Amino acid sequence: MDPVTVAIVGAGDRGSTYAAWCLQNPELARVVAVADPWLERSDAFAELHGLDERQVFADWRHLVAAPKVADAVLICTRDHDHVEPAVAFLEAGYDVLLEKPMATTLEGCQRVADAVGRTGQVFALCHVLRFTPYTRLIKSLLPCIGEVMSIQHLEPVGWYHFAHSFVRGNWRREDESSSMLLAKSCHDIDWLIDIVGAPIRAAASFGQLSHFTAGNKPVGAADRCLDCHLERSCAYSATKIYLDRAAAGDVGWPVKIITSDRSPEGVRKALATGPYGRCVYGCDNDVVDHQVVSMQFEGGATGAFTMSAFTELTSRKTRIFGSQGRLECNGSQVDLLDFSTGEHTGHEVLQDGTADAGGGHDGGDAGLMEAFFAAVGKGDQSLVSSDAEASLASYRAVFSIEQARRSGLLVTID
Ligand SMILES: NC(=O)c1ccc[n+]([C@@H]2O[C@H](COP(=O)([O-])OP(=O)(O)OC[C@H]3O[C@@H](n4cnc5c(N)ncnc54)[C@H](O)[C@@H]3O)[C@@H](O)[C@H]2O)c1
Repeated sequence: MDPVTVAIVGAGDRGSTYAAWCLQNPELARVVAVADPWLERSDAFAELHGLDERQVFADWRHLVAAPKVADAVLICTRDHDHVEPAVAFLEAGYDVLLEKPMATTLEGCQRVADAVGRTGQVFALCHVLRFTPYTRLIKSLLPCIGEVMSIQHLEPVGWYHFAHSFVRGNWRREDESSSMLLAKSCHDIDWLIDIVGAPIRAAASFGQLSHFTAGNKPVGAADRCLDCHLERSCAYSATKIYLDRAAAGDVGWPVKIITSDRSPEGVRKALATGPYGRCVYGCDNDVVDHQVVSMQFEGGATGAFTMSAFTELTSRKTRIFGSQGRLECNGSQVDLLDFSTGEHTGHEVLQDGTADAGGGHDGGDAGLMEAFFAAVGKGDQSLVSSDAEASLASYRAVFSIEQARRSGLLVTID
């Protein structure tokens, strides 16, 4: 089969990660165009992928208006810019891989799902957790524990990851991106539905922004970490998170996000002038830093989900309690306890990358790419489980749960 040709919309962190995967897998996919208004980014991208000026577009609107250049498009723009390009490219006859969230409103999700239904193009949402070898392992063990009765799931965001993305960074404000549940935990809600194999029918949720507020700013702390005499004793010091890493030669995520000049001088400059050098107690953030969700699935299984900023940056942890046994899952290993014998057996996946976005989401990025390009190549939507219908059901749950948190009431989900 010829490689699938692909255009990248948004050559930022995610767009370039997926494009890099294509470079490493030329037999499966070939990047033939890019659209991004950020000239420095699109130029560097074009050079890396050997694109000439006719293959570089300053806006997705220019790309979609041009004669069709590729089989598929990977839409990796920011959260608020998903619906319009997704609908436009579907209607222009492209197969579409869309970054999460599907949209920042339920109406937007519905518009994307309607466009998929109308056009019949292959569609995948980047719910990468569905595509990890670890998820496949857990699913293969589910029959050993009988009927799933309940599930307990922790998303340990990690203290410096939270400070980077959700206090100083792009996902800190609901009006600029979305709620924390939508921005981050949509992965978890989608994954829980996928693992339990049933939709969520009722939920309650609690959570708030408690720590990263002006009221918690230590007396005498400066507005920027570079100027702060308390910085060495601060867990969230930007100097520690970025400059110390860069000085030690570690310029991957999160350093690579804050500046294209990754020398210590370049990082220092970004901290002196940019958003990532701000005191975490003096930012304009408003997303919650801890949240819990209690849920009931169709059929009666119950679930408990916790998202917390105040953890190490590590893999999600899950316990699945069945009628005949239980699984204890730590991100790479699964312990199976069989109630009929009382025996434990250990199972392990060889990890491909780490749990974070920069590390490939434990092989989820690669698994998604393989599934999507196979689906496009064969014209077979069934090869991608994160299709429009499944995604719409997950987002219906996410928006309802967030409504439950805001109202303090139990919500039922049709
Ligand atoms: N699947 C996951 O696990 C995962 C992980 C991280 C981020 N994301 C999501 O991926 C998306 C992108 O995140 P990112 O970190 O790569 O963001 P980013 O800001 O690094 O990249 C977005 C890019 O879109 C470009 N852009 C803006 N307007 C455009 C236009 N009109 N036409 C074409 N390009 C345009 C920007 O210039 C920028 O380069 C977000 O929605 C985010 O929530 C998903």
